[in-house]
Amino acid sequence: MQVPLYDAKSYDRPFFEKNGAEAGISYLFHPFRLTAETAATAAGSTAICVFVNDVIDRLCLTALAEAGVKIVALRCAGFNQVDLTAARELGIRVIRVPAYSPHAVAEHAVALLLTLNRKTHRAYNRVREHNFSLDGLVGFDLHGRTAGIVGTGKIGKILAEILHGFGMSIRLYDPKPDTHWADARRMHYVPLDELFSQSDVISLHAPLTTETRHLVNAHTLDMMKEGAYLINTGRGALIDTPALIGALKRKKLGGVALDVYEVEEGIFFEDLSQDVLHDDDLARLLSFPNVLITSHQGFLTEDALSEIARVTTENLARFLRNDCFLPNTEVSS
Ligand code: NAI
Repeated sequence: MQVPLYDAKSYDRPFFEKNGAEAGISYLFHPFRLTAETAATAAGSTAICVFVNDVIDRLCLTALAEAGVKIVALRCAGFNQVDLTAARELGIRVIRVPAYSPHAVAEHAVALLLTLNRKTHRAYNRVREHNFSLDGLVGFDLHGRTAGIVGTGKIGKILAEILHGFGMSIRLYDPKPDTHWADARRMHYVPLDELFSQSDVISLHAPLTTETRHLVNAHTLDMMKEGAYLINTGRGALIDTPALIGALKRKKLGGVALDVYEVEEGIFFEDLSQDVLHDDDLARLLSFPNVLITSHQGFLTEDALSEIARVTTENLARFLRNDCFLPNTEVSS
């Protein structure tokens, strides 16, 4: 059975090839993204595999249905890139990998925080040029400071525990709080306003929904402490980018670290080093000395890639054997 895999990168291949071979699935690696324009390349395939920046809107799903596709396997946890209502109406099932390695993302958030705070990226470049001065590299002790975690699911919980281990005081917000877990660790849930106004470091781990879109906006940015750090490894649109740029220009924030961006499509995961960057907001963000951006690499560990390929392939193999029960992986509107 052949399964087209869109937006394929070199690091995907070994894991999907190995798991596919064991399950009798031959992945067809397409370097381009899936959109309504490229959907015809799925013709004759029952199943396809996509990633975070494929555009699986109604138009694309209609073309997929016409091409004979019955199932779309997301090799990621988030599913905001899919029009689930259209998928249901067209009879296309959508599955994902709900948990592959929450540690990978939480640890990347820590890497971003430590880099932002201690400016190791700037120190590294300086020292390579034999500039051994320390001017402009002052950070602060995380120990004793307050971290606010927005979204205490799998990733947020792990990050909260790591930062608690640093000696930080933890504030949590989640509309579905796990007080049993928090109480056992002497951490506290607080209203979102309090989290914004009390935290020295805020890290976002909520899914992107209509409710969480622009959760960080001009109003909530105003509530934040002067000099606070904002970390986003969740989804780009959790932050209103122009409002963030405004806050950075006013020197309201100490620093911002982003692994995700509002408009990643066509930019993140691509080598544009020989090209012109057309996204002015992204270019502006990159111009601030206290903004650190990585290109959606929170998931990028061997452990996570291996688990993503294993779970995706197992579920596809089960579906292709006509076993319709795909535990915990199905997403629906
Ligand atoms: P999860 O589903 O385990 O946890 C999400 C938590 O957010 C839940 O506890 C939920 O109740 C909470 N939540 C829902 N609405 C909220 C709101 N309005 N405010 C605050 N919290 C809210 O998800 P997990 O695995 O922890 O992942 C979190 C997010 O991280 C994903 O939705 C995805 O967007 C992102 N992610 C990023 C990756 C990267 O490579 N940068 C990789 C994997 C996930």
